[in-house]
Amino acid sequence: MKVIALGADHAGWELKEALKAWLIENGHQILDFGTHSPEPVDYPDYALQVAEAVASGKAERGVLVCGTGIGMAMTANKVPGVRAALCSDPFTARVSREHNDANVLALGGRLTGSELGLDILRMWLGSPFSGGRHERRLGKLAQIERRHLQGREEEPDGSP
Ligand code: RB5
Repeated sequence: MKVIALGADHAGWELKEALKAWLIENGHQILDFGTHSPEPVDYPDYALQVAEAVASGKAERGVLVCGTGIGMAMTANKVPGVRAALCSDPFTARVSREHNDANVLALGGRLTGSELGLDILRMWLGSPFSGGRHERRLGKLAQIERRHLQGREEEPDGSP
């Protein structure tokens, strides 16, 4: 059972609500940052809250839904420590966990129906990170992040 942060804009709230009901039924703890209606809102406001909850450790994972999932993934990936994956099927969901250790799942509410969305979510939550060679690659990802956070060049081995 996990603490999961949820967020959506107006184009994603319906799918978010379906995912939320399933998560609660299955014993997960939810931090729902909204939105709660089809009233138009701006997706970065919701992606930021979910991404910060994951980056700070308040939530173990995050799930974001907008029309395509693209804006949510773009925004969430601006927050250091977040690895958001836009998934459209159970295969990408599984591999985003096994290879990329994705900690945020982004979905497109205008493309992904609730049954498919639930399949994707179940696969994503149930797939562990494989480690091994993927650990090295994620290390490189984190290094790029650090380099740009520090605003300076860092050698490929991590030395300044
Ligand atoms: C809203 O119309 C739409 O742009 C948004 O939900 C999302 O698809 C952005 O990436």
